Order: sequence, then structure tokens, then C-alpha cells
Amino acid sequence: MLPFAAVSQIVFVAGARPNFMKIAPILHALHGRETEVRDVLVHTGQHYDHGMSEIFFEQLGIKAPDVHLEVGSGTHGAQTGRIMHTFEEYLMQAPRTAGVVVVGDVNSTMACTLVGVKMGLPVAHVEAGLRSFDRAMPEEINRIVTDSIADLLLVSDPAGLENLAREGVAPERIRYVGNVMIDSVVARLEEADALGQAEALGLSKRGYALVTLHRPQNVDHEDRLRSLVGFLSELADDVPVVFPIHPRTANKLDAFGLRDELERHPRIHASPPLGYIEILSLMKTAQLVISDSGGIQEETTFLRVPCVTLRPSTERPITVSQGTNTIAGMDLDVARGAVKDVLAGKYKPGRDIEGWDGKAGERVVDVILEAWS
Ligand code: UD1
Repeated sequence: MLPFAAVSQIVFVAGARPNFMKIAPILHALHGRETEVRDVLVHTGQHYDHGMSEIFFEQLGIKAPDVHLEVGSGTHGAQTGRIMHTFEEYLMQAPRTAGVVVVGDVNSTMACTLVGVKMGLPVAHVEAGLRSFDRAMPEEINRIVTDSIADLLLVSDPAGLENLAREGVAPERIRYVGNVMIDSVVARLEEADALGQAEALGLSKRGYALVTLHRPQNVDHEDRLRSLVGFLSELADDVPVVFPIHPRTANKLDAFGLRDELERHPRIHASPPLGYIEILSLMKTAQLVISDSGGIQEETTFLRVPCVTLRPSTERPITVSQGTNTIAGMDLDVARGAVKDVLAGKYKPGRDIEGWDGKAGERVVDVILEAWS
């Protein structure tokens, strides 16, 4: 008998940009299986611009969302509340649901976990166990809450296993599945290579730095953002800088009157956010990446491209111990030193990491079909 004969659907949640490259390989893996389970994709609408959302659906071949909650932006309380309210309304009238799958650490992840668990549904968290130990990061709170109540914790980084064990999580709730975000890199690398985004900008391979910045710690305070604009201008004296600008950062640059200063430098290529294939192409051939992103630390480690992370901590320590990532903290002098080393050819080569192999989505599907059938 086929599994799920008596069960109608599994709900997959995605809401913000970094969720899309994680949900794509899971859905692709599920669609390759012979199962009667129906998958329902819920987009919360936390990110809604074409460049922050739709383009990723197009480029990653994700089906159009079955349900769109259209919550939009807001304060944490307002946004989380809207997601919970609308997701609960959806689940209350939905066909019988076998479980809910959430990914990552954004507000949508935590909000939908709370709703699913309170409605008595099993919830699986993909990318569980990561901890930065910095409670000033909204994502850290989302991770702790999500992992404390989700049923199945699917881990991508060996540190996640240690963290969950230390928190006393029962081993039967935990599985090491590897990194679904790397599945998307593996699937799209050839296309990214063929695109040659750097050449299209008149840049040579390994002849530029790619920069992304969007964390509140870096962009929400005028003094800090001003220092970062100065830092990037200095960097551009040494090497061309490609800087696709996140909407949060763009808003702050405008609000603080810093945009002209940033764009004045002829070697800073500022642009709106880029699509997945474009950013992957730029990452692959960069000499150096400077970022405060979570996922980029992993992607650069997989691609063996040096990454300098402008944050006080990382929840992805394997990218530092085995990968190409350097945590520069918040002191820009430390970052200058790290950048200087890379430009002088001194950086860690990095190595392969277990389960970062392009097959994590398959392992996620193995676990959820086994658990919920
Ligand atoms: C969110 C995630 C963060 C993730 C990041 C990736 C949380 C707590 N944070 O942060 O973990 O790394 O996404 O992008 O969930 N905006 C637009 N268009 C959009 C989306 C946002 O213009 O499509 C603007 C809005 O002005 C909004 C601001 O960007 O207020 C910030 O968006 P928000 O979703 O609140 O947080 P992010 O900073 O994007």
C-alpha cells in the first residue's frame, strides 16, 4: 500500500529570501518520489518584491505558492502576529495535514512552527540546531523557539548536533541531513557559470569583491552604516566592489543620506538585489566576498571562495573551522586586516563538509515520509 493513502497533505512554509533556496530542493526531491502525499506550498509574504521573492521561484523552478498569506513587512510583533493569524486560519480549513515543514530562522519559520505545534501537528525544522549565542539577533530567538517545540530537528552543521544535545533534546527528534542550501548551489552552478555575470559588468574573474550587507546591527544605525560606506570606498581603491543592496539597507542609506557617498566611487557597482543565478555567478568568480549573511558563509565555503563576515559571531562555525570563512567581528580594523590577507593571497583553502553534497533534500524527504506515514 502506498504511504499517506489516508493523509491529504504536507505543508511547506517559505516566507523570506533565504527560505526559497532551502525549500526548492526539498520540493524537487518530493516530486521525484512515488507517493500519494500532496504538497502544499505556503508563502507567508514576508518578502514580496519581485527581486526578493518571485525571481527565486522562477530561477529555482519552485511551483507557484498554493497559498499566499501576503503578510508584508512590519515590526517583529506585527509581522509574526500576522503570519500566525493567517497561517492558523489557513490550517483550520485545510484538508487533513500530516505535518508542517519549516526552514531556516526567519520570523515565518518561528511563527508557523508555533501555529502548527499548537494545532497538534508534527513540525519538522530544516536547518535546526544552529546557535550564534547572540540573543540580540532576531534569528537566534527564532531558532531557539522553533527548536524547542518542533518535533523533528533536521540538522545541517555538526555544531547543531552538539547544541541540541547540550540543550537536552531527545536524540530521536534529531537527524543529520546535511545542507539543503548547498543542493541549490549544486543544481544551478553550471547555469551560473554560463551566465558570466562578472564579465557582463566588465570585471575579470577573481578581480573583484562581492559585498552584501543587511543585518540590523550593520545597517540600522547611522554611525555604523557611515563607517561601512567609508570601509567600502577604501576597499574599492584596491579592488572593484559589486554591491547588490538589500531593501532594508537601501532604505537606511536613503534615510541617513549616505547613498551619494556610496555611489560616488567609480569602482563601486551598486545595484538592487540580484537573482539567485546572478549572485551565484558573482560569488563563484569573486576574489573575496564580504557579507553579514548566514547563507553566504555556507555558499562561499562550498565554492572555496574566501569570505570575511562582518558580524560578532556565527551560528555556522564549520564555515570557519573547515571552510573559507573568517569572522571579523564588528571592528573594521580587524576586517581591513582580513581583507588585506586575502588580497595578498593568504587565506584558508577550505575542505569538503559531510552532507554538503547536493543530496540533502532527498534525505529530508526520506525522514519526513518515514516519520509521517
Ligand atoms: C529577513 C530575516 C533575515 C534574513 C533576511 C534576508 C527575520 C527576522 N529576518 O530580514 O533573517 O537574513 O530576511 O533577506 O525574519 N523589504 C522590501 N521588500 C521585501 C522585503 C522587505 O522592501 O520584499 C524592506 C521593508 O522595508 C522591510 C525591510 O526590507 O521593512 C526589512 O525586511 P524584513 O523582512 O523585516 O527583514 P529582513 O531585514 O529582510
